[in-house]
Amino acid sequence: MLSSQTNDTEKRDSLHGHWSSRMAFVLAVTGSAVGLGNIWKFPYVVGQNGGGAFVLVYLACVAIIGLPVMMAEILMGRRGRRNPIATMALLGAEEGKSQNWRWVGSMGVLAGVLILSFYSVIGGWTLSYVFKSASGMFANATAAEITSIRDGFTGSWTTVALYHTLFMTLTIFVVARGVERGLEQAVRLMVPALLLLMLVLLGYSISSGYFSEGLSFLFTPDFDKLTWDTVLAAMGQAFFTLSIGMGAVMAYGAYLPKETSIIGASATVAAADTMIAILAGLVIFPLVFANGLDPADGPGLVFITLPIAFGHMQGGVFFATVFFVLLSFAAWTSAISLMEPAVAWIVEKFNRTRAQAAVMIGLLIWAAGFGTALSFNVLSDFKFWRGTIFDNLDYLTINIMLPLGGVLIVIFAGWVMCRNATSDELGSSGAIYKLWRFLSRYVAPVGILFVFLKAIGLLPDLS
Ligand code: PFF
Repeated sequence: MLSSQTNDTEKRDSLHGHWSSRMAFVLAVTGSAVGLGNIWKFPYVVGQNGGGAFVLVYLACVAIIGLPVMMAEILMGRRGRRNPIATMALLGAEEGKSQNWRWVGSMGVLAGVLILSFYSVIGGWTLSYVFKSASGMFANATAAEITSIRDGFTGSWTTVALYHTLFMTLTIFVVARGVERGLEQAVRLMVPALLLLMLVLLGYSISSGYFSEGLSFLFTPDFDKLTWDTVLAAMGQAFFTLSIGMGAVMAYGAYLPKETSIIGASATVAAADTMIAILAGLVIFPLVFANGLDPADGPGLVFITLPIAFGHMQGGVFFATVFFVLLSFAAWTSAISLMEPAVAWIVEKFNRTRAQAAVMIGLLIWAAGFGTALSFNVLSDFKFWRGTIFDNLDYLTINIMLPLGGVLIVIFAGWVMCRNATSDELGSSGAIYKLWRFLSRYVAPVGILFVFLKAIGLLPDLS
């Protein structure tokens, strides 16, 4: 039974082609992981959740929950070699278990669509800052002037919608062409260049005179500020930034050659992603304090702090333009992966070409994006549950759907799949495999469920 199963999985192939090398895969997953989550979202959620204690919980979540979930997604993707819905149905059936596991894949596809609907609006915002930077409007501008430029942008729904449309068009274009060539090239250049520019910014931020304030805000944990909702936000952020819990990495894993080490690739991606997020925090918080800004300012935070920094720098117009181009690229390579599960599903299930699937799904996401585009202006007073439409989409997807998807994926890999299948994919049965299995079977599921139930108030306090 087992050997025929192994033969089957070895013959199985993806409809969509393969990554050309291990490097290509690592770059693609890094491209997916490194994005707005690191540079736009991380600093502002840290700011809203009180700093150091949040960062500590976030780091712990990346290491003990995020990494095992990422490995689980890749190994499932490679074993199933289909879109996440079909992969979960297939692997479930192969283990003699229910095909209903496919609903986990379906939730992932939906989460990707919903996340991209707001991600694209912020991606468009980034694109618009390429033009603003190049025009020189940030040069020597005061914090108040830069704040009013931001408010002018978000206040005009037509401008926000226009750039959202531009961003979605770019995303549909690459997905329609197939991921391999365009993506690999873009990421190969983008990640190192982004890192370099962040280091330049770090130099500026160190010289701002407020570096130690920024440092202590990021790294001095004040546990009084920690609530279960904050812990859930840290866990959600870990999922979001690593692109896990919704099948994007599973979809990419389906195109992974058999020889590539999943353990090594996952660790590389998680390390690069974490480093860029921390670097963004180290750049942004000193500037927040140096300019008397509020760390809890929210989604517009980087669109103020960074232009201030560039505005006062030698060659700032050039650096600012390059920076926002790179950030747009980073957002772009993430957006592509947010669409991939849905597109792969349409191609396989309805026999469509990639181009048709990309346009269909892309238009749907584009239309849904108006909910977020209007949240900053026309509908800014239309609030329910967590706030505006954008706030609700953000909370629902990042704090609920990703952790829920993550827990089900890791339970699937740890409990539903047999030991032989997972150790075959991970290429090991030694200490690292045992650690992964322990984290996947016990630590990650219990941790995620506990935080989740605590935050939504379903677990009573024991005191
Ligand atoms: N990881 C991306 C970021 O940090 O910007 C966001 C993301 C991409 C989340 C792809 C989920 C995903 F599937």
